[in-house]
Amino acid sequence: MTMAKSASLATTLPVTAQMPRHAESGRPDAAAAQSDRAARIGGVILDMQNISLAFGGVKALTDISFDVREHEIRAIIGPNGAGKSSLLNVISGVYTPQQGAIVFKGDRYARMTPRRAAEMGIARTFQNLALFKGMSVLDNIMTGRNLRMKCGILAQALRIGPAAREETRHREFVENIIDFLEIQAYRKTPVGRLPYGLQKRVDLGRALAMEPRMLLLDEPMAGMNIEEKQDMSRFILDVNDEFGTTIVLIEHDMGVVMDISDRVVVLDYGKKIGDGEPAQVRANDEVIRAYLGVAH
Ligand SMILES: Nc1ncnc2c1ncn2[C@@H]1O[C@H](COP(=O)(O)OP(=O)(O)OP(=O)(O)O)[C@@H](O)[C@H]1O
Ligand SMILES: [Mg+2]
Repeated sequence: MTMAKSASLATTLPVTAQMPRHAESGRPDAAAAQSDRAARIGGVILDMQNISLAFGGVKALTDISFDVREHEIRAIIGPNGAGKSSLLNVISGVYTPQQGAIVFKGDRYARMTPRRAAEMGIARTFQNLALFKGMSVLDNIMTGRNLRMKCGILAQALRIGPAAREETRHREFVENIIDFLEIQAYRKTPVGRLPYGLQKRVDLGRALAMEPRMLLLDEPMAGMNIEEKQDMSRFILDVNDEFGTTIVLIEHDMGVVMDISDRVVVLDYGKKIGDGEPAQVRANDEVIRAYLGVAH
């Protein structure tokens, strides 16, 4: 299984070569855009300290420490089963680590809960899509607004008084997300009828509807063709640029990682074996042995 994904690493993707975003904004190239972004990167917003997580005898994460800076795109890479999704699940409160602490905006937590993470502005997408296939694109993205709805479920269902006004406001917000993600043509389409690449985009829209300060993306480009990957890369960069959202991204395609991330954490068998800027990580011997070996 490791081999299958490793093999795809050998093919790098020239995402930046064809991204219209930079041309439109008059910027000469992706490197300039990346340095614009680097200038905006702030202090540490999330600090994971010595996190260990086991399932019975399986050590999913062993003593992992790393930080995420405000406004950066932080990639997590590693072979299958390395612990990448587990790490996102610890950040979003789905898994409770046996050891370690999570410091978010200076507050220290031994564990996160999904509710607390959401309230603190942490939103996520899922490796395996968790959308309601029979519901429309618009209604799926609306589910991301739930936490922000003040009126009770009953008032919402009956659409009475303030609930009706509130619903209108939220719908407007969702329509803006739909425009931003360029999926206007599908707003009423049941999500299950859309091609996979567009479903991933809807999942991103659902997370954006939470107006997150930090967005956790678990393989947002898995199973996509090159064109779909280019689109998704552009949307991730645009979210980061336009909304200033901090992004933690699990991705197997090294071309994408090299192109859009500011710093990269490398996991292998639940341990951290590399951490740094993309070029540094790519040159790290241990990383090459564990993960990039086939490319050399
Ligand atoms: N809920 C769970 N119960 C038991 N074991 C689990 C659970 N979640 C993850 N694991 C185990 O923890 C280890 C890390 O899994 P994880 O899903 O975090 O890896 P990953 O790096 O995301 O892999 P992939 O690239 O395949 O998505 C694996 O051995 C996995 O089997
Ligand atoms: Mg995973």
